[in-house]
Amino acid sequence: MFTRRDLIAGAGAMGVSGLARPVSAHGAGHGSAGHGRHALAERFDQEDFDPAVLAAPETGPLPIPPLLDARQSAGKLHLTAAASRHRFAPNFPTSASYGYNGSFLGPTLRLTRGETVEIAVENRLPEMTTAHWHGLLVPAWLDGGPHNAIEPGETWSPQLAIDQAESTCWYHAHPHHATGWQVYMGLAGMLLIEDGSGERLGLPRNYGVDDIPLILQDRMFTVEGEQFFRAFPRERILGLRGDMLTVNGAISPQCSVPAGLVRLRLLNGANARNFHLYFSDGRSFHVIATDGGYIRAPAPMTGLTIAPGERFEILVDFSDGAEVQLRTRDDSLESRERLGRLSTVSPSSGNQSNQAGTMLHFRVDPSLPVAGNRVPERLVSVPRADADPVFTRRSVSLEMWPGQGGGLPGESRVTTGSGPAMSINGRRFDMDRIDFAPTLGSVEIWEIHSALMPHPFHVHGAHFRILSLDGRRPPAHLDGWKDTVLVEEHAEVVIRFDQPATRAYPFMFHCHILDHEDAEMMAQFITV
Ligand code: C2O
Ligand code: CU
Ligand code: CU
Repeated sequence: MFTRRDLIAGAGAMGVSGLARPVSAHGAGHGSAGHGRHALAERFDQEDFDPAVLAAPETGPLPIPPLLDARQSAGKLHLTAAASRHRFAPNFPTSASYGYNGSFLGPTLRLTRGETVEIAVENRLPEMTTAHWHGLLVPAWLDGGPHNAIEPGETWSPQLAIDQAESTCWYHAHPHHATGWQVYMGLAGMLLIEDGSGERLGLPRNYGVDDIPLILQDRMFTVEGEQFFRAFPRERILGLRGDMLTVNGAISPQCSVPAGLVRLRLLNGANARNFHLYFSDGRSFHVIATDGGYIRAPAPMTGLTIAPGERFEILVDFSDGAEVQLRTRDDSLESRERLGRLSTVSPSSGNQSNQAGTMLHFRVDPSLPVAGNRVPERLVSVPRADADPVFTRRSVSLEMWPGQGGGLPGESRVTTGSGPAMSINGRRFDMDRIDFAPTLGSVEIWEIHSALMPHPFHVHGAHFRILSLDGRRPPAHLDGWKDTVLVEEHAEVVIRFDQPATRAYPFMFHCHILDHEDAEMMAQFITV
């Protein structure tokens, strides 16, 4: 049996050499926009590393994605996905990228509960895409998963009836086998649902001033400044990780904030890295919301882990006027090892791209309007996690087979070149197979098991509550409605199935390490 020890020590043992060094500064590639995944991937796979280095990135201002409010456009929004070139730091050359209505990432969409919005997604990319509304509770045929292909030149225009609590959701590309590539290239954006509750609670809501969207990612760059994407076995196994930390498409930028209470909407849009966030001066902050909306009461914290796909909203008090940095701790398996999370192992030298670093520099600008500095005592009422009668229990095992030469046990060696196989409950993802069929309107307990490393588990079209994490009750900031949870070893979640899904249009559930999802750690359900 392949162990966590082998996994940590092992990328080199899988026939891949030279991957242990940091790569931002040492890359191949002469990229230009408009190439498909394979062209770029093949070029990078040649591994003709160049010893020259990119200059250290300069710190520029935090880009704020434009806000598209459906109420200001008669309920119609338009997103155009296209190839472009994007500058990640003021002193960097531009890099080939994808974006919605821009060079990288997309606008923030603001939708109001009780309204119906039509979002036209136009594909001007050189490849097929889909647009998934992560966290939105809509029927599966509108969900934008792998079954909602938008071919180049086509436009997909779902009509979405918004009926869920105020929350920070997001949208991203989700084509099967290419989600990791397209999101890495830039196809992601924030999606905010409003129902008036934040306003009633007096929470900061001046977009881009004291209510700030932060899309957290990590990237590698070649010596020419191109985004470095590859799908080698190592990236498949640990997930693609970069040594440059980006926020809204800028490397460790600077954010001006008013001298008061500021709401930060945190989204982990990275392919694989968990961010372990804290402020450089150790200040505490309050978590007020997670994936599905507000939690019961603000949860005071000094450190917060956010896994790929997850969202948290936090309130931070900047009234002392001090400069402070938002930093992340090391996310390597080795550091987890040192933290005593896993069994004993000697740290390998590799994987520099999980290192700690600064994500964002905050500078207080006294000329910016201050909304207040009162943290509410209570937020909303959230039912107990075990409030509903449960129909069924199911087990979901998130599996990786890095030692099997590319196949699952019993399979012959896979020759597609797609790297190590992954599975759920012993089966690879199959777009034509339905894995589960819960009853519409029912509530089920799913037991999630993570093999070899922590996996962020995500379900489409449903929200859940966490009953237990590795045998313990969830901490306060995770005791709310979720759609994504980082499962270290084992978790129990209670899921409500309120949205219809059919054989032609099922919902996905999968690991949100995008490279694992693309390697088929994904499955489908319908409702009956
Ligand atoms: Cu964030 Cu299947 O998606
Ligand atoms: Cu999703
Ligand atoms: Cu995973």
